[in-house]
Amino acid sequence: MSKNKPKLAVVGAGKMGEAIISGFLKSGEYDPQDIQVFEILKSRREYIGQTYNVKCVGDSKEAVSFADLTIVAVEPRHMKEALEQIAPAMKPGKIVVSIAAGVTLEFVRKYLPKDAPVVRVMPNITCRVGEAMIVVCPSENTKKEELEMVIGTLSLLGHVIRLDERYLNLATGMVGSGPAYIYLIIEAFADAGVRMGLPKDVSILLAAQTTLGAAKMVVETGEHPAKLKDMVATPAGTTVEGLLALEEGKLRAVTKAAQRAKQLQPS
Ligand SMILES: NC(=O)c1ccc[n+]([C@@H]2O[C@H](COP(=O)([O-])OP(=O)(O)OC[C@H]3O[C@@H](n4cnc5c(N)ncnc54)[C@H](OP(=O)(O)O)[C@@H]3O)[C@@H](O)[C@H]2O)c1
Repeated sequence: MSKNKPKLAVVGAGKMGEAIISGFLKSGEYDPQDIQVFEILKSRREYIGQTYNVKCVGDSKEAVSFADLTIVAVEPRHMKEALEQIAPAMKPGKIVVSIAAGVTLEFVRKYLPKDAPVVRVMPNITCRVGEAMIVVCPSENTKKEELEMVIGTLSLLGHVIRLDERYLNLATGMVGSGPAYIYLIIEAFADAGVRMGLPKDVSILLAAQTTLGAAKMVVETGEHPAKLKDMVATPAGTTVEGLLALEEGKLRAVTKAAQRAKQLQPS
């Protein structure tokens, strides 16, 4: 990666823009001087500049002129305006990545020079810790080497796969929104621990690390989750109690498993 590392521009430094900047710097492959940021809000520009030491410019064309790869991370309703602003700086060889939910490649290309390569991407907020799921889909004029460069760069933020554009909205619901669903599960899991008397910080750690480990098992073993679940659930054990309660929609079901654990204690 270090050799042909593309210089980056991030247009729109809200929650996702910040997660992306932070993830690239955390990867150790990028230094602050490799990234320039354009953000419309002055207070936000100042915050990003001070926090990450990256150059925050007052004109998006300046950042795009500097960069090989421009990541547009503004809300879907501001995409037209953001693309019109950067279009004059899109010289041959420069690539645009759009992470806007629901915004098609066709829409993005309409506002950029005809030959500009565009990659539609759906990441999530876990870019920040280098563990994002990232789905990519290139415009048909994107060259193989350009796509490889985009995939190589985004791989610093997590796991990248290519999908057809018809799956991108679906990926938004799963990948983009997904962390929120998992946070709800972790919160419920941790609440159950607190209810049983664990200190809150300990309970959150237990719930979060257990979630992380379970997810890693699925990814690394390639086993079906049902098989992995079976490995944990012994007959008449604690897990099966929790699983039964969960299937009734009781997310705080860990209490059931704990009650069962008490019953199992040899007297
Ligand atoms: N949040 C997620 O988990 C997530 C996941 C995947 C994809 N996405 C996509 O990522 C994009 C950004 O989402 P977000 O959650 O980061 O939103 P956000 O926090 O609202 O950030 C967007 C930022 O871009 C700024 N902005 C607006 N127009 C601009 C322009 N023309 N040039 C430069 N900056 C501009 C906004 O400023 P103002 O506040 O002044 O408008 C805001 O600071 C969205 O398109 C969303 O669909 C989000």
